[in-house]
Amino acid sequence: MSPEPELRKLITGEQIAATVGRLAAEIRRDYRDKNPLLIAVLKGSFMFLADLVRRLDFPLEIEFVRISSYGGGTESSGAVKMAPGALPKIKGRHLLVVEDIIDTGLTAAFLLDYLGRKKPASLKLCSLTDKVGRRRVLINIDYRGLAVPDKFIVGYGIDRNEKYRHLPDIYALEQ
Ligand code: IMP
Ligand code: MG
Repeated sequence: MSPEPELRKLITGEQIAATVGRLAAEIRRDYRDKNPLLIAVLKGSFMFLADLVRRLDFPLEIEFVRISSYGGGTESSGAVKMAPGALPKIKGRHLLVVEDIIDTGLTAAFLLDYLGRKKPASLKLCSLTDKVGRRRVLINIDYRGLAVPDKFIVGYGIDRNEKYRHLPDIYALEQ
């Protein structure tokens, strides 16, 4: 049996709430009259999305996509996979992709490219966290939450092998 990896608190629930509030204010300013389609990447962004949209007081729609570049480990495989599923008509819509974390950038780059080909009216990216030091492709994060160090993080929706998603704070996994 392997011992439980150690969790070190990195970002408190209060800090997360303040960050979500700031991002929501920016999004309210830009999307009030646009009926945007928010596309959240499962599963990691479910908690962030839920907190974010409760602060958006204008018409919007929500969709989910299942996509990942990680297998079970802590290193990006580099190969991005998207589960087949139906998205509503995207042409002419204002799209906002909602992510939990941008690490290498491969997942976001893949999704933005995929969505961009469907001729949306606009296409932007919002991410709660940004693992700045690990980028392998250039990604512009239009609504950027918190920079995080090059550590594996969990909590607030973010998992390690499906564990820790329910935690209200964000932790670094020390192994
Ligand atoms: P990227 O394609 O390398 O940018 O990785 C993006 C995805 O990998 C994120 O949406 C997460 O699901 C996952 N990921 C990246 N870093 C972490 C981490 O530190 N903890 C948990 N999941 C992570
Ligand atoms: Mg993810």
